[in-house]
Amino acid sequence: MKVLVATDKPFAKVAVDGIRKEIEAAGYELVLLEKYGEKAKLLEAVKDANAIIIRSDIIDAEVLDAAKELKIVVRAGAGYDNVDLEAATAHNVCVMNTPGQNSNAVAELAFGLMVMAVRNMYNGTSGTELMGKKLGIHAYGNVGRNVARIAKGFGMEIYAFDAFCPKEVIEKDGVKAVGSAEELYSTCDVVSLHIPATAETKNSINYALVNKMPKGGLLVNTARKEVINEAELIQLMEERTDLKYMTDIMPAANETFAAKFAGRYFSTPKKMGAQTAEANINAGIAAAKQIVGFLKDGCEKFRVNK
Ligand code: 3PG
Repeated sequence: MKVLVATDKPFAKVAVDGIRKEIEAAGYELVLLEKYGEKAKLLEAVKDANAIIIRSDIIDAEVLDAAKELKIVVRAGAGYDNVDLEAATAHNVCVMNTPGQNSNAVAELAFGLMVMAVRNMYNGTSGTELMGKKLGIHAYGNVGRNVARIAKGFGMEIYAFDAFCPKEVIEKDGVKAVGSAEELYSTCDVVSLHIPATAETKNSINYALVNKMPKGGLLVNTARKEVINEAELIQLMEERTDLKYMTDIMPAANETFAAKFAGRYFSTPKKMGAQTAEANINAGIAAAKQIVGFLKDGCEKFRVNK
């Protein structure tokens, strides 16, 4: 059995070593394709792979067509919007993710971005503190929960909205559950986004919603760029010079944001929320174990294309 690790954004070496150990202990072969850049290289590498471990790498119908021996794809991470689930099902390929394995890393970066924003991008002028500010967590999944845990240490007042998570689950963490996204944005000084990119959420963070934020509002995005309605956010930030936007996922309109909103906009150059040795080890080794469990015992826990 051939297990391909296809990561355009590579894992830390220590994580690759751990993945290799799991795969070889099961008697399988590990093939590594890192920083491949062009899709053609991925199409060539998947030809004889029985299993693939990916990150944000795109697995579409063309890749699945080329991967004639493929049985399983594991997205080492949470969001699987980069995999065409319907095409995978049609090709009889199981798709899994590794929920929770990299969530602390993403949550920590959200605070890195928050501190940078409230300290005026470290330009030496007096900023503000996070203590006592109202934090809104938009979606209370694994990352959202870690954000809540860390926010307690900062002394923030914590609110959350999640259409799919029961109020009691949120409130048992000492977080105030609000009834709508509109309420969250109108209540909170800082909103941290943790929604996945789905047909329902794409472009949903728009002018009307963000405009509900109080004066000096800060929006932090460590989720997906697709959830932002970029044209509307640009229009709003032109009108409201008090708003700040910090993101780990570079917008398509990055140059416009950077040119128009210097001092109140920042994007990391490459999505790096999950780019820690710990998160790479956790997610990478979980992916390797899930592949072995699937190929040896037919275990389908964490399957996302039912
Ligand atoms: C995820 O969905 O797990 C995070 O967005 C991390 O993605 P990455 O593996 O591409 O860094």
